[in-house]
Amino acid sequence: MQIIVDTPQNIAKRAAAIYQEILAAKPNAILGFATGSTPLDLYAELVRLNKAGEISFKDVTSFNLDEYVGLSPEHDQSYRYFMEHNLFNHIDIDLARTHVPSGLDVSDEALAGYDEAIKAAGGVDMQLLGIGINGHIGFNEPGTPLESLTHVVTLTESTREANKRFFASIDEVPTHAATMGIKTVMNARKIMLIALGENKADAIRATIKGPVTPDCPASVLQLHPDVVVFLDEGAASKL
Ligand code: F6R
Repeated sequence: MQIIVDTPQNIAKRAAAIYQEILAAKPNAILGFATGSTPLDLYAELVRLNKAGEISFKDVTSFNLDEYVGLSPEHDQSYRYFMEHNLFNHIDIDLARTHVPSGLDVSDEALAGYDEAIKAAGGVDMQLLGIGINGHIGFNEPGTPLESLTHVVTLTESTREANKRFFASIDEVPTHAATMGIKTVMNARKIMLIALGENKADAIRATIKGPVTPDCPASVLQLHPDVVVFLDEGAASKL
């Protein structure tokens, strides 16, 4: 694991530079994206670079980590909506090649189909991850088997509580999500984890210094050969 501690602004720039390198070497790379607050500065930087002609997503295929069950792509809290509004609509990516798990069809076929589509595309070249305060990656909450593929999870109360800031009330926060599994994430050739803020410090400590255990799903990243972790001072404060 390569661990880099820097300011949030520099992290966005340095992370975007890694995307530039990847796309310079492979313009049709398969990129795994994440939602949440953490990647917002990075996405803004990617938009800036794209508008400046310094990066192109024209031949990229993308797969997002997760989606709330029950929300349509048009719902303003769906992750499909988030990606279109924070990234896809502002860059030259072909929307037809962007994938977000369906929040409406969570049949076994649809879930298995997500892993099959990733495989058929050639596998994810780089997967971007944020981390939950309980160590979740994607929506793989503590206890999720490390061998899991794309599946439906019941969100923990702490995750629903953490995400209620985006909804009118906690009652509106979905109770379930469809998420890439831990194995799906681990299959990516390169992984970039970004964690910002002191409230992530315990999870980051468990991820980097703790045992590899489903109690902290992100700890499995210790077993991956190519992980870069960007931390601000707060997230790194308990290392
Ligand atoms: C988002 C995702 C989640 C978030 C995590 C952190 O697609 O899979 O694991 O990365 O919940 O969220 P933020 O960035 O809002 O703190």
